[in-house]
Amino acid sequence: MDNKLEKVVSLCKRRGFIFPGSEIYGGLRGTWDYGPLGAEFKFNLKEAWWDYMVQDKENVFGVSAAIFMNPKVWEASGHTQAFTDPLVECKTCHERIRADQEEEIKLHEESHKLKKEKFEWTEPKKFNLLVEAKLGVVEGDKTTVYLRGEITQGVHVNFKNVLDSMHPKIPFGIAQIGKAFRNEITPGNFTYRSREFEQMELQTYVRPDEKEAMAVFELMKENRMKWYTDLGMSRNKLRFREHASDERAHYARAAWDIEYETPFGWKECEGIHHRGDWDLSRHSKFSGQDLSYFDPETKEHFIPWVIETSGGVDRALLFFLLDAYHENEDEKRIVLKLHPKLAPYKAAVFPLLKNKPELVEKARTIYRNLKESFNIAWDDRGNIGKRYFSQDEIGTPYCITVDFQTLEDGTVTVRDRDTMKQERINEKEVLSFIKKLV
Ligand code: GAP
Repeated sequence: MDNKLEKVVSLCKRRGFIFPGSEIYGGLRGTWDYGPLGAEFKFNLKEAWWDYMVQDKENVFGVSAAIFMNPKVWEASGHTQAFTDPLVECKTCHERIRADQEEEIKLHEESHKLKKEKFEWTEPKKFNLLVEAKLGVVEGDKTTVYLRGEITQGVHVNFKNVLDSMHPKIPFGIAQIGKAFRNEITPGNFTYRSREFEQMELQTYVRPDEKEAMAVFELMKENRMKWYTDLGMSRNKLRFREHASDERAHYARAAWDIEYETPFGWKECEGIHHRGDWDLSRHSKFSGQDLSYFDPETKEHFIPWVIETSGGVDRALLFFLLDAYHENEDEKRIVLKLHPKLAPYKAAVFPLLKNKPELVEKARTIYRNLKESFNIAWDDRGNIGKRYFSQDEIGTPYCITVDFQTLEDGTVTVRDRDTMKQERINEKEVLSFIKKLV
């Protein structure tokens, strides 16, 4: 299918998933606003992550830390230093390379030439990804702070608070979902590279032992891949990729990405990183606080190591959209085959005819009952066929139609988005039918 990305972008705008940020003012590069269906989809995605990564687990705790943090946090974490390299970025594939690494630049250009692709570099820039903000009311006396470049540090600075309040036994995890901000040189590919985006992360604290750390690392890779495929993402469009040593972030001792095959190439969706004791040691040093863990079994104090998994909410959402987008030429319909857990609406309810009050009243009753448990769409415009196609395009798994037979025997038609098959079930079973699927 040609131009799949453009088609998805257009669907997102047309049907209220994602709009360009500040659009009526001409937009703001690298920012996106989620519309009614996109906000619902994003909420479902984050809920599915939180359920799987936090609530289903016995030893994982959630936090929601402030976005503004003491600027010393970013000195300790290494971000104020480690992101100030002079970089050039390839305008074709957005790979960034340090401007002084001539050999690597040459190799990169060769790889494009081989594929008969053009390449062009941005001007070198001394470049820090952190976004600055000014905090305070008195002009001239404002403090420069950073909008967080990763949500991770909000977890590590609360390590001691979680230890003292929850008394977890190692190994344990602290999770967070929230916004991060980066001064990306070239935002692009729709929401793929944005300047404001959301991350979902789990930091697992383990004993400082390579074997134990790598066992958690491997388990995390497996778990995270399973999460995407359990929610319907095609396994053959997903792969693992190990970072080369010169590609790893300053904090990482090992790093693997989960990548998705997009129309613009294999792209990072999530990173699994072995951060060693980098974060806690540095925060301990910079804050002067003891951030060690006391193991009551071995009576030892130590700084735990961290295995992190860090996924992008917006990237996952975009990849789920790309994966779910299907065009059916024969039936002339567009279908978003989203997992029911992710779909913005779990079902749509229609009266067969808009001008028959007894049908409308019955359908409204079913709609209101279902709406107490799920997000449900109502549609009484146009003919039934058009309503089906309209719901297919936004990924609604089931359409429930109230017709004249409903008034006689209490059954409704349930039509499946993917197979287009219809069956009649009793109106009293509709709620449990949808519950089972979601
Ligand atoms: N705490 C580790 C960390 O932040 P990262 O690889 O820089 O690691 C993790 O980012 C994830 O955040 C990425 O895999 C991606 O899904 C998402 N992400 C990073 N930069 C992004 C951007 N500019 N726009 C959208 N998502 C982004």
